[in-house]
Amino acid sequence: MCGIVGYLGKKQAAPVLLDGLRKLEYRGYDSAGLAIMTPEGEIDIAKAKGRLKVLEELTRGGKSLSGVCGIGHTRWATHGEPSENNAHPHCNDEKTIAAVHNGIIENYAELKEKLTRKGYNFYSQTDTEVATKLVDYYYKKYGDPIRAISEFALRVRGSYALAVINKDYPDSIFAIRKDSPMIVGVAGGDAFLASDVPAILKYTKSVYYVDNMQIARLEKGGVTFYNLDGEEVSKEIVEISWDAEAAEKGGYEHFMLKEIHEQPKVVKDTLNYIYRNGGLDFSEVGLSDGDFKKINGIVVVGCGSAYHAGVVMQYVTEDLARVPVRVELASEFRYRNPVLTDELVIAISQSGETADTLAAVRAAREKGLKTLAIVNVVGSSIAREADYVFYTKAGPEISVATTKAYSAQLIACYAFAIKLAKLHGQIDGDYYAKLLKELLSLPEKIEYLLSRKELIQKFAAKTMDRNDVFFIGRGTDYAVCIEGSLKLKEISYVHSEAYAAGELKHGTISLIEDGTLVLGILTQKNLVEKTLSNLIETASRGALIAAIAAESVKLSENSLDFVFRIPDSDEHFIASLAVIPLQFFAYYLSVLRGNDVDKPRNLAKSVTVE
Ligand code: AGP
Repeated sequence: MCGIVGYLGKKQAAPVLLDGLRKLEYRGYDSAGLAIMTPEGEIDIAKAKGRLKVLEELTRGGKSLSGVCGIGHTRWATHGEPSENNAHPHCNDEKTIAAVHNGIIENYAELKEKLTRKGYNFYSQTDTEVATKLVDYYYKKYGDPIRAISEFALRVRGSYALAVINKDYPDSIFAIRKDSPMIVGVAGGDAFLASDVPAILKYTKSVYYVDNMQIARLEKGGVTFYNLDGEEVSKEIVEISWDAEAAEKGGYEHFMLKEIHEQPKVVKDTLNYIYRNGGLDFSEVGLSDGDFKKINGIVVVGCGSAYHAGVVMQYVTEDLARVPVRVELASEFRYRNPVLTDELVIAISQSGETADTLAAVRAAREKGLKTLAIVNVVGSSIAREADYVFYTKAGPEISVATTKAYSAQLIACYAFAIKLAKLHGQIDGDYYAKLLKELLSLPEKIEYLLSRKELIQKFAAKTMDRNDVFFIGRGTDYAVCIEGSLKLKEISYVHSEAYAAGELKHGTISLIEDGTLVLGILTQKNLVEKTLSNLIETASRGALIAAIAAESVKLSENSLDFVFRIPDSDEHFIASLAVIPLQFFAYYLSVLRGNDVDKPRNLAKSVTVE
């Protein structure tokens, strides 16, 4: 996600802002920029695509921008390609107001239309430029910078941490947040603003955590907070106890743990990308209803966890939409000369740069097939080469083992399947509404599962000496197994197999011996009995058997060595819940084994080579 910083005080602002942006680089970005109030009272803006060092070279480490008040930004693109034009800060036409923003303005399109009707022009593709000009509109209307931000907040839907400088107030920075984090720090007459603690920890440990819909005005020597009615509100100052490294992870020990905990928000943000007025709108993806109606076959390609999301997509899409779906490892698809007719090829990739998946997209396009990319990085190679793009809203994922991006991919897959089923007349309006309601309930259910992680932590501690772990399941439970097994292997280095439960007796069961851990996923009501009996079969050969089971699944729990319950949910989507304890299981085993959780041996975050 983007990083924002602000500074106002005795020092030259630009070097302080660059220093703060460097501390936020871990958040991932593709461009950066600064806006400085010059001593002459003008606003100076410098922006650059690429790494922060490009901006540093452009501004000679900030020295070429004089002034003691300014804002800065590292952009993780959500609307509009990574480019200098789309980089923040954004400004009004007269360059009397400039702003930086972290978050997603969901209703930016309608706001842009309204502002266009009021005579505004737009130079970028970003929601942030719209936000900036909305503040400008209300400032021009009321002449009051606090009122302008308050009016902005009352009209915007979505998430934002917004910082604004205004030529008429050269010694102030104005800010507001909703759902995107923002802190304000003070020290010795200086005032600081940032998305996250690391950016200002070097200057102060005395910070205010800005609350949702609270407006801050930073001035030399202090900060004042207001509510949306423009009334001053008092706030407690907090002393930060973290060190710099801990701060980058938001206080979590590892990025993976932080990213596991970000999943409720990521699922909600990804849903908000296509959920409009009670329905699913794929216009931003580029797929019209007519396009959906023409789909009569699908091939899903991906690698690793992306491939595993594709397996869920296959089960869910075929069951709901009755359209044939096959899912293939991209590294196989690209070489095996597949028989293709006029299928839609769907490429799933967090990074959007995986070489095999990119090659699969190219192979499909060479055969004249349409391609849909489900990616997490705006402007990535796969996004640029596909015909349609569904951008998941997971934000940058730092840990090599994917968690939140995988969960966001599942949401994209479910939404696609539901939309396809509706447009193919396979589900009626009531069932459509019921499925959407189930989707909307996922963030809260994931939140609940996060609160029960200690149960998994204890189970991991009890089983940390196992050298072989089997995951078994049927239907989408099998799809969860392959993801859970990969998580375990890649970060704990414990050998693991994932099996369709019905396959065990075709050979693999010979591997089961005393103490082998077998973990069953039990969420698909019509299949649970069968998987349970497979689990019991392994127990009779000495296995330690455990289950991740939906709340209403009937189990004689004393026949199992460990049961972890997950909330009931529509069986098409319950994979999003079942995977959470498996993420924690892999995480805690990796920690217990003293591994480098976020950078496991031999692995890269994006496999851009074959
Ligand atoms: C998942 O935890 C792994 N890091 C890996 O399997 C990953 O999913 C795979 O390399 C695909 O990456 P992509 O989603 O960026 O294409």
